[in-house]
Amino acid sequence: MKRSKTLAFTKVFTPIFLIMTVLTCDAFGQRNAFDAQGHRGCRGLMPENTIPAMYKAIDLGVTTLEMDVVITADGKVIVSHDPYMNAEIATNPQGLYIQPGDQRKHILYKLTAAEVQTWDVGLKPHPKFPRQVKVKAVKPLLSDLIDSVELYVKRTGKPAARYNIETKCSPSTDNVNHPDPETFVALLMAVIREKGISKRVTIQSFDKRTLQVLHRAHPRMNASFLIDAGNRSTPEMLLQELGFKPSTISPAYQLVTQDYVEACHRLGVKVLPWTVNDRDTILRLKNLGVDGIISDYPDLFQ
Ligand code: G3P
Ligand code: CA
Repeated sequence: MKRSKTLAFTKVFTPIFLIMTVLTCDAFGQRNAFDAQGHRGCRGLMPENTIPAMYKAIDLGVTTLEMDVVITADGKVIVSHDPYMNAEIATNPQGLYIQPGDQRKHILYKLTAAEVQTWDVGLKPHPKFPRQVKVKAVKPLLSDLIDSVELYVKRTGKPAARYNIETKCSPSTDNVNHPDPETFVALLMAVIREKGISKRVTIQSFDKRTLQVLHRAHPRMNASFLIDAGNRSTPEMLLQELGFKPSTISPAYQLVTQDYVEACHRLGVKVLPWTVNDRDTILRLKNLGVDGIISDYPDLFQ
C-alpha cells in the first residue's frame, strides 16, 4: 500500500519537477535565478559598453553584463552599439566632437581596432543620461573586456559574471558595416572559446541569421532572439521563424503580457524584456513571471 502511494506520488510529481527544471535551466543545464542584466554595462550610470561600465554593473550586483559587438577592418571583435562613431558619445583623436551628419564617415568595419581606440567614448556628457559619470574610455576589444571583468570579479570576490552579447548586424548592411553572419559568428566564438567562458555566455540578436549560424555550428550555446516593439508575432510564431528553440526570447518590454510569458514558458523558453528603466515596470514584469530584465540602471534592482 505504502509502496503504491510512493509510486503514485512519483508518477504525478516527477513530470512536474522535470518541467520546472527545463524552465529554469539554460542550454548547459545550469539553473538560473532571476537574471538582473546591466544594459551596455550600466548606461544610465557610466559610459555605455566600456570596461568601467562593466565594473560598476558588477559592483551593483548584476548577474549578467549586456553588451553589443561589431567587427573591425582587421577582424577584431570590438564592443560597440553602433557600427560607426556615434556623435552622441564620441570625441575624435584631436579631442573634438563630431557632427551627427559626419558620424557615418567613421564606420568601425573600415577602421582597425587600433584606429578605433584613438577615439574617446567616455568623456562627452550624454544628454539622455545625465547621471553618467564621465571617465576617459575607449571602445574595448571583447577579449580585453572579458579579461578585465574576470580579473575584477576575482579581485573583489564577486560571483562569476554572465555575458549577454549582441551581434550588431542586419541583412541590409552585410559587407558594409560588418562581415557575413558566418564570419561574424566565427570571430565572436573564437574569442569566447579562447577565454573559456562559453557556459556563461548568451549570444543575442535581432538578426535571426546569426542565431541560426550559431545554432548550426555551436548547438549548445545559449541563444536569445531579440524582438522589437513593433513585432506582433506570438512566441510560437517566433520559434517557427527561427527554426529552432532558443534559450531565450528577449522582447521590448512593451510587448510583455501574462499570455506572452506563459506562452514562452510553455515552449520551454525564458523571457528577458529590455530595456526597463523604472522600478514600477520592473516590479510589474517580475510579477508577470519574467526570467530577468535588462536595465540601464541596475541600481533599480537593489
Ligand atoms: O538586449 C536588448 C537591447 O540591448 C536591444 O537594444 O538597441 O540597446 O541594443 P539596443
Ligand atoms: Ca544590445
